[in-house]
Amino acid sequence: MNYEASRFTMTIPKADWSRLRIAAQEAAGRAYCPYSKFQVGAAILLDDGSMSAGCNVENASFGLTICAERNAIFQAVARSTAPITIRAVLVYTPTLQPTAPCGACRQVINEFGPQAKILCVCDGEEEISTTLSKLLPNSFGPRNLAR
Ligand code: THU
Repeated sequence: MNYEASRFTMTIPKADWSRLRIAAQEAAGRAYCPYSKFQVGAAILLDDGSMSAGCNVENASFGLTICAERNAIFQAVARSTAPITIRAVLVYTPTLQPTAPCGACRQVINEFGPQAKILCVCDGEEEISTTLSKLLPNSFGPRNLAR
């Protein structure tokens, strides 16, 4: 299915998931995680077909750590001249079990992609294929503040 067709049906073509996986794996390799030693890479697909990838970046003051997912999203916002809409998020960890986005990242994904598809992959067979609305039901978001 080509991009225009997938835009209509809201499914994410396999080729896009593959591109996202490659980008997330490359980003995971750039993770700065001397404290946890837990590498995470995330890649997001936007409405316009563009992608953004990020890794986790830790800090000696542990609370300042930023997750891979938020890094990818904030980079996309910083680069874009128009509001962004996230269609898909892929999270990669070089582990045997997949890792789902943390609560803070779910909230940030909700801000820009309440309809986003989420795929969490790893070096093992297991995957988590879900949606943001399943990971964050009854969410609070921009609509709650609409006057
Ligand atoms: N981490 C992410 O990058 N994304 C998540 O969704 C879960 C946790 C990072 C933060 C920290 O650098 C390391 O994984 C261990 O928590």
